[in-house]
Amino acid sequence: MKLEQQDITLTKLDRNASMPYELLLLADPSKELVDSYLHQSQIFIASKKEEVLGVIVLLPLSDEIIEIKNIAVKPPFQKLGIGSFLIENAIQVATGGEYKSICIGTANSSIGQIYLYQKLGFELSEIKNNFFISNYPDPIYENGIQAKHMLVFTKIL
Ligand code: COA
Repeated sequence: MKLEQQDITLTKLDRNASMPYELLLLADPSKELVDSYLHQSQIFIASKKEEVLGVIVLLPLSDEIIEIKNIAVKPPFQKLGIGSFLIENAIQVATGGEYKSICIGTANSSIGQIYLYQKLGFELSEIKNNFFISNYPDPIYENGIQAKHMLVFTKIL
């Protein structure tokens, strides 16, 4: 069953508001890395009543490109359409901000994410070889596959 979009409230967070770290760290386990981009980003949360269910973080890379640096949905609420809703909103924000493209990076092992981003019109644009091996202290496995490379998906606006 999908959540109805009218049940979900989207709010832009003030940069000095309290951040939903338990969600942000689901997508990026390094708090240090998360903190390195939060203060330059636009942060949106999806909530139902008072409960925060999802977050998306948008960081401009230039006047033309904006990156989804972080997206996460609370595990019991995943696969209900909230991630898609957050990405569709990010596409609107990027279009309104006159960016020419929006991108997102994910691991070669993140099968669901690779599916989701392509379903929403993003296309593989770059592979950062060995990114996860070089940037994280411990090996990361998902779906029985080692996360080695970062795949960058881009949607031209
Ligand atoms: N495995 C398989 N399919 C998945 C999936 C997964 N892990 N995550 C999403 N999908 C599919 C859904 O089944 C759905 O398919 P359908 O449209 O054919 O029914 C589609 O993708 C859209 O899913 P949606 O419900 O909009 O996404 P979501 O709310 O589950 O959010 C994430 C997606 C990635 C944000 C969420 O799974 C999450 O928070 N993951 C942990 C953090 C993370 O990995 N962030 C991304 C870092 S790159």
